Amino acid sequence: MTPYGIRDAQMADMETVARVHIASWRTTYGGLIEPSWFDQMERHLDDRVAARRQRLHRTDVHTLVMTSPGGFVVGFADVGPVDGEDPRFDGELYAIYLLRGWQGLGGGRALVQAGAAWLAQHGYQSMKVWVLRDNPSRSFYQRLGADFVEHRTITIGTQTLDEEAYGWRPLETLR
Ligand SMILES: CC(C)(COP(=O)(O)OP(=O)(O)OC[C@H]1O[C@@H](n2cnc3c(N)ncnc32)[C@H](O)[C@@H]1OP(=O)(O)O)[C@@H](O)C(=O)NCCC(=O)NCCS
Repeated sequence: MTPYGIRDAQMADMETVARVHIASWRTTYGGLIEPSWFDQMERHLDDRVAARRQRLHRTDVHTLVMTSPGGFVVGFADVGPVDGEDPRFDGELYAIYLLRGWQGLGGGRALVQAGAAWLAQHGYQSMKVWVLRDNPSRSFYQRLGADFVEHRTITIGTQTLDEEAYGWRPLETLR
């Protein structure tokens, strides 16, 4: 039996989703991003939860959650239309974050598959994702069949970091 569930996010999940996001950022990017950035994320928790609640009313974007057997949210993924102009892709996986103890159990793949299924149901053909070049999760996307698409730099706080995009085109290349 799978030790987790996957379902659409609800309004009551938004605080936990925001907290899981920050907790997973700390464990994922601890060696890559200045710690003060995570503290700042925590200080803006109210705003982050409010933004997520607003976002849940939108019909063009979607959030899925991974839950423990007891029903607690332990991970999430956000999907929707591709951010910015990109003629090659119409859909995007904006974020996927699991609490560290819930990683490696198949929940990440299940969330990506559920996100891709939502995109397919809404007429999307493809899906792109951005990942920090120094994040080992790059290999997760490749394992799921994504191909390298492009490179860019982004600014987080005072740091300039390299990011790479990977993509599934068409969505059926997801495995
Ligand atoms: C990246 C993440 C979502 C993957 O979810 P997960 O539940 O840990 O991964 P799964 O158990 O579903 O793994 C699916 C497959 O990918 C492989 N995989 C997972 N992480 C991997 C990694 N870092 N490197 C190589 N392969 C990886 C698994 O071995 C598995 O392979 P299989 O086909 O042999 O079964 C999760 O580990 C996570 O939240 N990481 C921290 C946050 C993060 O980096 N998010 C992405 C930001 S862009």
